[in-house]
Amino acid sequence: MFGARCLVRALRPCSSAPCPRHKPSARLSVRDALGAQNTKGERVKVQGWIRSVRSQKEVLFLHINDGSSLESLQVVADSSFDSRELAFGSSVEVQGQLVKSPSKKQDVELKAEKIEVVGNCDAKAFPFKYKERHPLEYLRQYPHLRCRTNALGSILRVRSEATNAIHSFFKDCGFVHIHTPIITSNDCEGAGELFQVEPSSKIKVPEKNFFSVPAFLTVSGQLHLEVMSGAFTQVFTFGPTFRAENSQSRRHLAEFYMVEAEISFVESLQDLMQVMEGLFKTATMTVLSNCPEDVELCHKFIAPGQKIRTYAKKQLFNWGVDLHTEHEKYLVKHCGNIPVFVINYPLALKPFYMRDNEDGPQHTVAAVDLLVPGVGELFGGSLREERYHFLEPRLARSGLTEAYQWYLDLRRFGSVPHGGFGMGFERYLQCILGIDNIKDVIPFPRFTHSCIL
Ligand code: 4AD
Ligand code: MG
Repeated sequence: MFGARCLVRALRPCSSAPCPRHKPSARLSVRDALGAQNTKGERVKVQGWIRSVRSQKEVLFLHINDGSSLESLQVVADSSFDSRELAFGSSVEVQGQLVKSPSKKQDVELKAEKIEVVGNCDAKAFPFKYKERHPLEYLRQYPHLRCRTNALGSILRVRSEATNAIHSFFKDCGFVHIHTPIITSNDCEGAGELFQVEPSSKIKVPEKNFFSVPAFLTVSGQLHLEVMSGAFTQVFTFGPTFRAENSQSRRHLAEFYMVEAEISFVESLQDLMQVMEGLFKTATMTVLSNCPEDVELCHKFIAPGQKIRTYAKKQLFNWGVDLHTEHEKYLVKHCGNIPVFVINYPLALKPFYMRDNEDGPQHTVAAVDLLVPGVGELFGGSLREERYHFLEPRLARSGLTEAYQWYLDLRRFGSVPHGGFGMGFERYLQCILGIDNIKDVIPFPRFTHSCIL
């Protein structure tokens, strides 16, 4: 086997050798072309999809987009290039000179010398029409094409940027990234919203279960993170999470991404809340400074479409009843439409792992949710029950002692006070972009009765 150092040494000669597939002409992304400072007519090649065509007497204007930025690159061509094939939606490769634009609308433009249509687009059959702003509900019918629109382009670029920002936040704070399993034999939340995993063909595995025990898609990586926080102190995971909730709501998916953190030697909810707040603020600042145009598009053209909902003022807070979406929204509004932490929930409503506050008569656990405007619950977290003699009877009451021996072991061998949280990534995007429906912030939404593509 190669060690990493040997591998790098072996690869070094290759990197200086000319790569046979590398084309000599300078291929630029639209983003790089638009950002070219002091361009002096360099010859470049740009590839992308036509967003607009405007034909004048002697000139033809095209706008090309390749997904690298919201803004498209203006291509100016001689009218001799005009052809029916240069239509909205077609893919093209344009070679020419990158020059300063005489118009104030853009800094640079591409003076075309060669335009090649890579793939035609039948504009009549294409579900999106030139210059029309289609509502997000309409776009949802075309999960295979909607990423070519400005709206989805911006949302998905922000999604990518936010993913990086979240990883950077944790790295900068000294967290270790853990790949928690997608297939698991536990139900962390105990809510029974599990998808079971079995091979589609029974022939290959004669036993009842492929893994010899019932196995499920994970509803949370928390318990595995707790294992890891017992060695690395601060850990996080960021991956797909699955819940078989029978919901078509604007904030639930059957497959969503969750950002989860677990921290050892944490003794107060305040310390956890600081990390939650830090994550939210830092990631959001990074997104705002790295893709302001994309965020602005969402705020300007998408968010105003949201319906403003009003909630009747009524007796909302009967002790011991779980908070529903309506209650959460009322609370946020009541506090002035700002993010609100809610702490110390009734023990009876919460999973076995949350730390007993030993208070009375209401008997609470050290749980914390962060509620945000427009979305409701964005984060859910808690201090964990690290005391063996508290945890064991709670597991026993639920008949889980045997299955959770390993979890009890963590309390037997060097247990420490610890806590963590999970943030729904799609709900985070909904919150910062003001997107009403969660199905519009994930590339391919999965929910009850829908698994398109
Ligand atoms: O509140 P939840 O269920 O917390 C947990 O799973 C903890 N084990 C996390 C932890 O402490 N490591 O889920 C966390 C967050 C919610 O606050 C919500 O934002 C999001 O995950 N979420 C969903 N997002 C989209 N669709 C669903 N069906 C969701 N269910 C939860
Ligand atoms: Mg929750």
